[in-house]
Amino acid sequence: MSSGNLIDGRAIAEQIHQETSARIDALKTRGVQPGLAFVRVGEDPASQVYVGMKERTSQRMGIYSFTRVLPETATQAELLQLIRELNGDSRIHGILVQAPIPRQIDSTVIYSSVRPEKDVDGFHPMNVGKLLLGDATGFVPCTPAGVHELLIRSGVKIEGAEVVVLGRGNIVGKPMAALLVQKTRNASATVTICHSQSRHIAEHCRRADIIIAAMGVAHFVKAEMVRPGAVVMDVGVNRISDHASKSGTRLVGDVDFAAVQPIAGRITPNPGGVGPMTIAMLMANTVRAAEMAAA
Ligand code: GUN
Repeated sequence: MSSGNLIDGRAIAEQIHQETSARIDALKTRGVQPGLAFVRVGEDPASQVYVGMKERTSQRMGIYSFTRVLPETATQAELLQLIRELNGDSRIHGILVQAPIPRQIDSTVIYSSVRPEKDVDGFHPMNVGKLLLGDATGFVPCTPAGVHELLIRSGVKIEGAEVVVLGRGNIVGKPMAALLVQKTRNASATVTICHSQSRHIAEHCRRADIIIAAMGVAHFVKAEMVRPGAVVMDVGVNRISDHASKSGTRLVGDVDFAAVQPIAGRITPNPGGVGPMTIAMLMANTVRAAEMAAA
């Protein structure tokens, strides 16, 4: 099967890392090293992997970083105290509290407590509001920003395109739709958000020029839901059982890749598509936070 229609997220992320590295060098000549603090609560295995990858990338790029881990039983007051400390730490320009956060803690309170200038995740209500208003001084959540950048750098025309976003979560679906509907270059799309209560999802998808799958259902997007030539972006990370693998499980996306790739115009592989971009945008957001603090 031809791989000519793949959107290589690893290669595009590497290109962004190089641009970010140049900005880090420029900051260093001014005596500034960007700093990024990670906070993890509990021992969720996926969060351990994600935070580990993000911290290793930070260090490889010369960003000062560390991870603070609180126990699964931590109270909201303890987590707020840690965030207060990081808000006041002048070496730290970005703070990332990895989701999910244990149930006894109200994540809305937590994300509202991160200083907006250090909110490189783009989860603070101030940054959510700026995104909706089209105010580019805010931070855009890393995964939708990464999908947007992949579309732009792959030459996909977004203006006027019919886009279907599958999923309405605060981390991907809602900010993704807000980004693409803005009256700016590389946006101005006609955006439909579908979710678990939507009717006629297949019909919506079949009209789409661009499908962005972020609902967290393994292999949800089937070939018959995709118009030939459409662009398909797979944000999903789903663990399914797989008796053929040593662990008994494997990770798959929200797109039935084997069936959809032959008819898609362009498609992200998964892994190797959106995932690397999330990290690239986090690094870029952190460097921008440091640039703004140094300005
Ligand atoms: N969990 C899944 N995606 C993300 C993300 O982009 N940021 C944070 N903080 N947690 C997540």
